[in-house]
Amino acid sequence: MKESGNPLFDFILFGGSGDLALRKLLPALYHVYRSNPFQPGTRVVCVGRSLTRRDVFLERVEAKLQQYLPVESWDEVSWQQFSKHLHYVSIDAHKSESYRALREHLSSDQRPRVFYFSTHSSLYGQIASSLGSHDFITPSSRVVLEKPIGRNLASAQTISGQMSNYFTESQIYRIDHYLGKETVQNLLVLRFANPLFESLWNHHYIDHIQISVSESIGVESRGEFYEETGALRDIVQNHLLQMLCIVAMEPPSNLDPDRIRDEKLKVLRSLRPLQDGNINHQVVRGQYTAGIVDGKECLGYCEEEGVSDSSNVETFVALKVLIDNMRWSGVPFYLRTGKRLPRRSCEIVVQFKEIPHWIFATAKGQMMNNQLVITLQPNESITLKLCGKRLGPGMDVRTIDLNLSPSVRGNKRSPEAYERLLLDVVNGDQTLFLRQDELEEAWSWVDPILQHWESTSAPPEYYAAGTWGPAGATLLLAQDGSVWYEGVK
Ligand code: BG6
Repeated sequence: MKESGNPLFDFILFGGSGDLALRKLLPALYHVYRSNPFQPGTRVVCVGRSLTRRDVFLERVEAKLQQYLPVESWDEVSWQQFSKHLHYVSIDAHKSESYRALREHLSSDQRPRVFYFSTHSSLYGQIASSLGSHDFITPSSRVVLEKPIGRNLASAQTISGQMSNYFTESQIYRIDHYLGKETVQNLLVLRFANPLFESLWNHHYIDHIQISVSESIGVESRGEFYEETGALRDIVQNHLLQMLCIVAMEPPSNLDPDRIRDEKLKVLRSLRPLQDGNINHQVVRGQYTAGIVDGKECLGYCEEEGVSDSSNVETFVALKVLIDNMRWSGVPFYLRTGKRLPRRSCEIVVQFKEIPHWIFATAKGQMMNNQLVITLQPNESITLKLCGKRLGPGMDVRTIDLNLSPSVRGNKRSPEAYERLLLDVVNGDQTLFLRQDELEEAWSWVDPILQHWESTSAPPEYYAAGTWGPAGATLLLAQDGSVWYEGVK
């Protein structure tokens, strides 16, 4: 066995048998283990509600890992070794006395204790207070708060108050797994290590920017969660706004976590507020109806399990966002996310302005203006679309793709976002986590949209599963003379 580079730690996962744990967190820990086996004695303690035996729980995890891991990542020997570190404890989060059961699973040395809260965020305060009353929180403890943290600004502030009774800010890790994606970090390098880009990165040269998170899946088994959440809270308030911050922020003076967070905060503070007057013109709220995705028939949102048949909850949002500062004055940022779209993809597209004076024979209208396409998924890539000469006589121009993707990895797997972030927590690095003021600023910006929707009885715009969202989303860009980037078909 390879020598472990991971420090000893205890990882206590609340919501340990939930969807996120089984789909992302335990697979990520398994990958961390495979790259660098844990030190003997490292514990991953999954906390769930049901009275399940450890062996039954392990069978369930094994089945889910086989389902969610890429085939080449699964191996029986690693699983056998990894599973020795897994424990299961049944706790009723509402009953403080039931936390006693956790004691025997925690080590008594000074190792980092990571408490990961992956339950409904309304339980975070109760969990922290029960951990506190049992003296489980040590100076080397950390708490990870899964998003969405709260349902609005007020509830996010309440949770913050509850956390601060037990943890200092340096112990709190507000996670947004999009910041753990390799290409998001690569974007920081692209912007701040290349004067070429930094000098063009402003309203003089950029026409607009699009950021899209599209999913082909529906709400799956999370109907109840989604009914309370919707796409605005699930993706826009966190993933989309965080990516917008990384694209739009000023260069930080160094990579210190707070310097980066200061710059992101300034972007959030510069977002032009969306209020009753402009929400209907700048925000599109959609919901999928039955349709066909990947050749398979899919139910409409209102027919999904756990969803009310008259639900108005949005499964799609498109927005036009303006940033009121010197760099971005007049440059629209179009954000879009939706479930049951034709495919899973995530792209940031920087559309440059057109050349002021065109001298070539090829009609200018046939050419695409320079475009930087940063693809986060399904495959990571960065491509710059430029004009080049067509081979042969004459001066015909065509669009050429310059590939700026990270150097070829060979067979090396690109780590999943959660792998990187979970290790950062264990190692005490807060760079890719949100500070409370950022979280509050994001909620302050999103709240008026939520309130506006709550105050209206108008239904969302419907779109058939397997299409790119409602007509309103196309119109949002068409009225500015643009179209959504739909990637490589
Ligand atoms: C989560 C959302 O934060 O991100 C899910 O709650 C969504 O609804 C998921 O499916 C998408 O993450 P990824 O990494 O698969 O794009």
